[in-house]
Parts: sequence; C-alpha cells; structure tokens
Amino acid sequence: MSTINYSEKIPNNVNLSEDRTLQRALEGWQPNFINWWDDVGPEGSTNYDVYLRTAVSVDPQGWAQFGHVKMRDYRWGIFLNPGDANREIHFGDHKGEKAWQDVPGEHRANLRRIIVTQGDTEPASVEQQRHLGLTAPSMYDLRNLFQINVEEGRHLWAMVYLLQKHFGRDGREEADALLQRTSGDENNPRILGAFNEKTPDWLSFFMFTYFTDRDGKFQLAALSESAFDPLARTTKFMLTEEAHHMFVGESGVSRVIARTCQVMNELKTDDVNKIRAAGAIDLPTIQRYLNFHYSVTIDLFGADQSSNAAIFYSSGLKGRYEEGKRDDDHVLKGQTYKVLEVQNGQLVEKEVPMLNALNEVLRDDFIKDSVAGVNRWNKVIEKAGIPFRLQVPHKAFNRQIGALAGIRMSPDGRVVGEVEWEAKKAEWLPTPDDRAFVASLMGRVVEPGKFANWITPPVMGINRQPVDFEYVRFA
Ligand SMILES: [Fe+2]
Ligand SMILES: [Fe+2]
Repeated sequence: MSTINYSEKIPNNVNLSEDRTLQRALEGWQPNFINWWDDVGPEGSTNYDVYLRTAVSVDPQGWAQFGHVKMRDYRWGIFLNPGDANREIHFGDHKGEKAWQDVPGEHRANLRRIIVTQGDTEPASVEQQRHLGLTAPSMYDLRNLFQINVEEGRHLWAMVYLLQKHFGRDGREEADALLQRTSGDENNPRILGAFNEKTPDWLSFFMFTYFTDRDGKFQLAALSESAFDPLARTTKFMLTEEAHHMFVGESGVSRVIARTCQVMNELKTDDVNKIRAAGAIDLPTIQRYLNFHYSVTIDLFGADQSSNAAIFYSSGLKGRYEEGKRDDDHVLKGQTYKVLEVQNGQLVEKEVPMLNALNEVLRDDFIKDSVAGVNRWNKVIEKAGIPFRLQVPHKAFNRQIGALAGIRMSPDGRVVGEVEWEAKKAEWLPTPDDRAFVASLMGRVVEPGKFANWITPPVMGINRQPVDFEYVRFA
C-alpha cells in the first residue's frame, strides 16, 4: 500500500493521477525544478552515474534501493508515511480532537509560513554545496555529497507538494518562489541566516551536515507532531533520510580528526605549523570551525522568547521534539522555562512562560543531541593519546538572534569586553588564514579507494560495498 508508483511522471504514493489539479500544478513546477538543478545543483555532474539510494516504498524495509543513476534522473517525487485515519491531536488547545486532513482557515497563514521556511532550507543547502564536488577528498565522499544533494531536492518536493495541494494559488506562488531565492544572493537570499553562509570546503561541509542537518532533524521532528496530518506524514518520511546526512557529518569530522592525530603522533608534535606543513588540519582550527557552525546553527531555532512559538504550539501546528514521549500535560499553560539574558554585564537565568520559550526548549534538545557526537570525536583524540578535547561553545557565544544577539561572549561562557573580543576572536572563530589553509588542502581525489591526505578512509563502504567501490562513474 505504501509502495511508490514509478510508472507515473511524478513518482508518488498519494494517488496523484486522481488529483488532476495537483498533478497539473506539479507537472508545471517540475521543469522549473530541473532547470534549477541544472543551474545551481552540483557543478559539472550531469553525466555522472552515481551509486544512489532511492526510495521504493516508505515502509522501514523498502525505502532504500541502491543503484547507479544520473542525478538528473533521480526519482524525485511525493512520498508520505502511511496515514492513520484515527490519529488525534496530542498537544495544545485542540488536544484530543481529530487530526486535520485539510488546513483550517484560521491557521492557514501560519502553516504556510512554517512550510515555506522549512522548504526554503532544502534547495539552499544544495546551492551552498554545489562546488564541493570539484574538490572531493574521495569517490566515496563525492557519492555521499551527491546523495545528500538529491535528498534535499526531494525534501523540497515534499514541501512543494503541501503548498500546491493545500494552499491554492498562494501555495503555487510560494512553490515558484522557492526556486527563485538563491543562497547568499544579495537581492533575493534564502530566508534563514545559516543558509546564506558559504560552504566553501569539506571541513565546512562535514560541520554543516553534522550541525545544520541536525537542526533539520529537530525542526522536522517537531513538525512531524503537527495536527495538520499531511505535514506530519511528509516530515516523518523526510526524517528517515536526515540520519544519513548527519552520519556523513559525524564520520567526516571524525576521519579528519583521525588523520590529524596520526600526523601529530608520527611527527610527535602539537605545533600547528608543523601539522599544517604535513598537510593535516590542526585541532585548534577544527575547534574554530566547530564554534562557527555550532553558533550559526543554534541561531536557526529563533528567538529565545517568541509569541509565535507559543501560537504554533497551542494551535497544534508544531510540537516539541518527541512530544509523544513526554509525560506532562502537553498544553504547558502556567509552566515555566529558564532562558538566558545579560543583566549588568552578567549572564543570568530568567524564568519565563514555557509556551513562549519553546524555541529555546527545542534548541536545548538540539544541544544535548549534538554534544553526544562531539564526545565521540573526543574519543578518537583520546585513543590517540593526545591531550586535547573539542568542546561545544557556550550557547551564548557568537549569537545573532534573540536576547543574546550581539553580546560579546567567550566560548567558555564569560561576558567579555570589545577589547578582549577583538584580541581573541582569531582564537575562537575561523580566520581568513584558517579558511585559506583549509582551502589549500582541497584537491580533487576521485580514483576508487584513494583518499586525500587530510582525511582517513571510512571504516566501511556504502551499502556493504567495499571502500574502493566505483561509487561514481564519470562519463
Ligand atoms: Fe532536508
Ligand atoms: Fe539534510
């Protein structure tokens, strides 16, 4: 029942052929999507046959089928997790009522905004990553990049489906606009800050997929609780793909660290210049990249106090992470939560109504989740016998959004003056020199089984294939 019909022009498991209006809208949008992919998708990749994972059905066994395909011919389409006709809303003011199959008029504007904001991030990351294929450290990594790119493309399809199916003409206009904004564009940028940053090198890419794709996981998880059932079902299926994106980030950074530690032990040194001269990325530079990507990513959760967050929750549009597993009343009226602010030059905790602090609640859940992987990176360093540990910076460090925006803060959580900030900035955030150094290491290595000098091979290949498998066939 949840099998995907690939015989139609647009693969789907939603009986698209029975909904002519939607079919027409999607078929009108499809050529624009392909043009967008050709224009700003992975550069120079048109003729490559890539060993990609494609969904054939949405049940746990069948959603991954592997084979060589051209990315342009990847089966983008509309796949929803199976529905449950009796599903009930399980949080907010409508708790206990039946989940919505259509958009209630009074929530239309907010739902559209939520879907557009999520949808906008998907093509943005493809744009941000479009040049990385030219400097891949291996064929294995090149394939993983492309897998992520096609799946982000499909995530865009998922959001466009909701817009075109449920939001009429405005929805169709929003779907078009998703292909018109461009990451980093001065006149028509993507909606959220982190999605207008550059992803210029592979260390940035691994940090991005570790931290920023994890933001995607938490946003999608919160939306998968939604009272609007089609949104819940769509995002649930998107989440199955997000795990691989974060795996690419976590294992990527881990392999960079492993190589650095090898070089440090071979040379018996922690001298940054010697490590760099040997072609590895020194740990302090990795820490600065981490600081940057972490702080930019936690901004994505929005202002620490937000009346919109309260409205989204109470009206059932967006739940908390794992809403169903929590044992409170799922209404949250009268409950409080601690947020941070600066008073008289000191960071202080302040109790505020929890409903207004739900962005902060989600951010804190994200923080817990991301620290776990950083600890695993530290295990690699520890095993190598090197007395250095990576740390996630304090959550007030380098923030641009919310009460902490613009406050000068050290990574270890001290409020600092402008003078100290200027003096230490280069220790805390990547400098132009760091970025130039990392860029200098980026050369294309794509013979099967070969790896760039600054990264170790993975422990295993994809889908139990050997590490030196021909993951990409260049035409
Ligand atoms: Fe995505
Ligand atoms: Fe992703």
